Parts: sequence; C-alpha cells; structure tokens
Amino acid sequence: MKYEAKTFNIPELDGISKKSVEEHLGLYAGYVKNFNDMSALLPEYAKDAEKNAHAISELVRRRSFEFGGMRLHELYFTQFEGGAAPLSAESTLTKQIEKEYMKLEHLVGYLTAIAKMRGPGWAVLYFDPEAKQFLTGFSGEQHQGHFVTLPIILALDVWEHAFILDYGASGKGKYIDAFFKNLNWKILEERFVSAAK
Ligand SMILES: [Fe+2]
Repeated sequence: MKYEAKTFNIPELDGISKKSVEEHLGLYAGYVKNFNDMSALLPEYAKDAEKNAHAISELVRRRSFEFGGMRLHELYFTQFEGGAAPLSAESTLTKQIEKEYMKLEHLVGYLTAIAKMRGPGWAVLYFDPEAKQFLTGFSGEQHQGHFVTLPIILALDVWEHAFILDYGASGKGKYIDAFFKNLNWKILEERFVSAAK
C-alpha cells in the first residue's frame, strides 16, 4: 500500500511563520514519497537477494528513517490543529502530569532541556500503558532512540529546518518557546486517553 501525504488544518501560529510551516510540510511530503519509492524497490531487489544484498541492506536501513520522518511529522503538525488550547484541569493527562512532575511547567521545562540537546532529532514524550508512566526521550534523526511500542503523546521537532527560517541557526530556544505557545493540549489529551486504555 502506498502512503499518502496528509493535510493539516494549521492556523496562523505565533512565532512560527507560515513560510516556515509551508516549507516544513514540503519536507514531510518528501518523507512520504521516499518511503513509497523505497518500498517499491525492495520487492524488485528481493528477486535476487544474494546479488542485491548491499542495496537491500542500505534500503532497509534508510526506509525506517523515512517512515519515522513521516509519522513524527504527522504527530507534530497535528498538535497545532485547532489552535493553541490549554490543558484542562480535570483531564486524566493533567492528573498524570501532576502525579509525575508536580505541575505542567516542570514537564515543559524538562522537555525543553531534552529538546535543546545538541544535534538533530526530536524530543518525545511517550506513555507506557504497562507501567502507567511517561517516558521521555530524544530520537536522533527520525528513527533512532525511540522506546519501541510506546505511544507518543508529544513530538517536538528540533531539526534545524524547523526553526532556521524564523530564528537562524542559533535560535532553537526561541523556537521551542514558540512551539509550546502554539500547542493544542486537547489533541495531546486525546492521545493520552487512547494510550492509557
Ligand atoms: Fe521536521
């Protein structure tokens, strides 16, 4: 099955320009296309796997990078849909955050510190339904460093392409502040409810 690039209903953002979002969406579409292209090549190479062993190994390695880029960007853009909205005080997500981090500001500060780690990647908040707790991590590139099988509650893209247009190469911190300012926490609440089932 071929994957299709999704569309997102992203309002005007505070501190992340329309131009930056448009270019970022173009990069997202590239991940979808590359994943499809690689997926189409693999069955051809598999017809003579021994002869094509090197090509197969490279495609297999790179294909999960493209898939990670596709899915993480879908999580990322969806978080802005509907516009900025606060976390509701009574939600189960609020209660879980308070249980583990005392208050939302602590979690945001912690995720900001992870996001400021050097190198391209993503700061990610996962929820482990088995242990009933959050895990936080940094995925270098798009596909590495994840906590496998865990649903993602929040995905913060800190590749330079996410902020260089608006803030320059040294503007990651300002971009991270803008990211949190524009988050629709209702979307994250929905993800948490689904993950915690
Ligand atoms: Fe990105």
